[in-house]
Amino acid sequence: MCGIVGYVGPKEALPILINGLKRLEYRGYDSAGVALLNGELTIKKKAGKVSDLESVLRPETLQGTVGIGHTRWATHGEPNDTNAHPHSDQRGEIALIHNGVIENYAAIKKTLESEGYTFHTQTDTEVLVQLVRFFYDRVGSMETAFRQALKQVVGTYGVAMLSKMEPGRIYAARNGSPLALGIGDGEYVVASDASAIVQHTRQVIYLGDREMAILDRDRYVTKTIDDEVVNKQIEEITFDIEQIERGGYDHFMLKEIFEQPETIRNAMRGRLNLEESTVRLGGLRTVTNKLRDARRIIILGCGTSWHAGLVGEYMLEQIAGIPVEVEYASEFRYRDPILYKDDIVIAISQSGETADTLAALREAKRHGATTLGIVNVVGSSIARETDAGVYSHAGPEIGVASTKAFTSQLTVLSLMTVMLARMRRMGAAEGAHILKALTELPEKVEYTLARAEQVQKIAHEIASTQNALYLGRGYNFPVALEGALKLKEISYIHAEGYPAAEMKHGPIALIDANMPVVFIAPKDDIYDKIVTNIQEVRARSGRVIAIATEGDTRIESLAEHVIYVPETHPFLSPILNVLPLQLLSYYVALQRGCNVDQPRNLAKSVTVE
Ligand code: M6R
Repeated sequence: MCGIVGYVGPKEALPILINGLKRLEYRGYDSAGVALLNGELTIKKKAGKVSDLESVLRPETLQGTVGIGHTRWATHGEPNDTNAHPHSDQRGEIALIHNGVIENYAAIKKTLESEGYTFHTQTDTEVLVQLVRFFYDRVGSMETAFRQALKQVVGTYGVAMLSKMEPGRIYAARNGSPLALGIGDGEYVVASDASAIVQHTRQVIYLGDREMAILDRDRYVTKTIDDEVVNKQIEEITFDIEQIERGGYDHFMLKEIFEQPETIRNAMRGRLNLEESTVRLGGLRTVTNKLRDARRIIILGCGTSWHAGLVGEYMLEQIAGIPVEVEYASEFRYRDPILYKDDIVIAISQSGETADTLAALREAKRHGATTLGIVNVVGSSIARETDAGVYSHAGPEIGVASTKAFTSQLTVLSLMTVMLARMRRMGAAEGAHILKALTELPEKVEYTLARAEQVQKIAHEIASTQNALYLGRGYNFPVALEGALKLKEISYIHAEGYPAAEMKHGPIALIDANMPVVFIAPKDDIYDKIVTNIQEVRARSGRVIAIATEGDTRIESLAEHVIYVPETHPFLSPILNVLPLQLLSYYVALQRGCNVDQPRNLAKSVTVE
């Protein structure tokens, strides 16, 4: 939610800020703005995308080697020019950008108003910059004013601020919203994530909560907002610039869909122990015994990551024999969960920054549970705060609709399952059988994606409808949920995912000749059951699209369209079955003229609760 970027150095800041904002635009695209210091403080902002801002900028009037920029996902105040960031104090001498939510902004605003301050926007952020001004006028030090203001606010922030009073300096701070500091040669780039930094330097510092940085052209200091200096470790950015570019594809989503053979390989790389027919997960070494003896696993996540967790539940219970509960992180954190010391809690998150997942994880830690992460973004908050974990190694995912991150999460869950099963109850022969299936998986993914054209041809079946139903059973019930989510988030068609048998308890009432029903119907031990469900839909004139196992000719007489995927071990089938559904939603959205990578109202990383 919201992307922030700042630059101090010898170069012109504007192009660096605009480029950084384009990289961060996946975090929010309601408005964009920049502030530059060049003797004067100049702010330009505009509702809409970064390109809308660019079209009104006159670079010759926006020179300066110190600047900040923001791309917004609106929380307080509608997305218009006025509410766009940067915001400034009433004298127009301080500019501030913010990602997060100031929960006590109304109370602070009231106090400031009683002191004669006037507000021009509906945002919580304007309150923060005015509060800095308030303290600055009393203490005469910008640093002290910045720290005092941050100490007053309740809520989350990643902020960057500059002022006319200190023309070569940026202040940045973080609490709950990510902030990374790129350490270049005589220059610094501060940004919500490393994608806006990697072009300038690979050296990065991730600020922790209640930490701040003061960036001058020739030096930087990191400290807490309580003024204690902290020497932060400099880390290396682990991805390359090509990975965050579209690389010839029309959309990031399509590129990321087609990256899956490789990302799945990466999720397995070095982790299969063929000699011992098991899996080696270095990140879990410290908790191996706890995992082996776990009485219960609780999986937390949101959205697509929650769907991955649901597949994980089927995997871990059926194959490793461990009871599993899967919870929406947003519900878990507020419902006083019952947790035992020998519970293992796994937080699943692509970004590693989702506010609800992070808060739920902290709640689990408070109860003394052992916490693990399945996280994609290296160095992210969830990755740092869990006791142990496994990176999913999908590389940067830019498309708002999660695709490759999901299949990598499933791959990691399958690896964890095999590791646990081998420690608890699975024999070597079964272990070897599953490892073989895992090894063959990337090629099967490749093979399935090669049929994209067929999926494209049937997208019209859905593109012209208002509703769609996705049905699956067992391992593939969560795939039905994921297929429906993909469709609704990028094509704005109302779609529901259901366990196929549950259809009879309500959704069947929706079925008529206008209702496309997508069945995920692999040839597994509940195949006959799902065929019955297909018949029930057909009997009511529903239009059936089936995802089926190659060689299953029977299904052709039941479905209007069949998309085949290769056979695999049943617990890996979600990884193959979700691929046509990702493609289907992509092509449907294209046909409807939707913005695939930046669907309305959404943002890639939900760092507000
Ligand atoms: O970064 P996370 O995996 O924690 O994000 C969770 C959800 O916000 C995310 O999966 C969301 O549902 C996707 N846009 C779905 O495509």
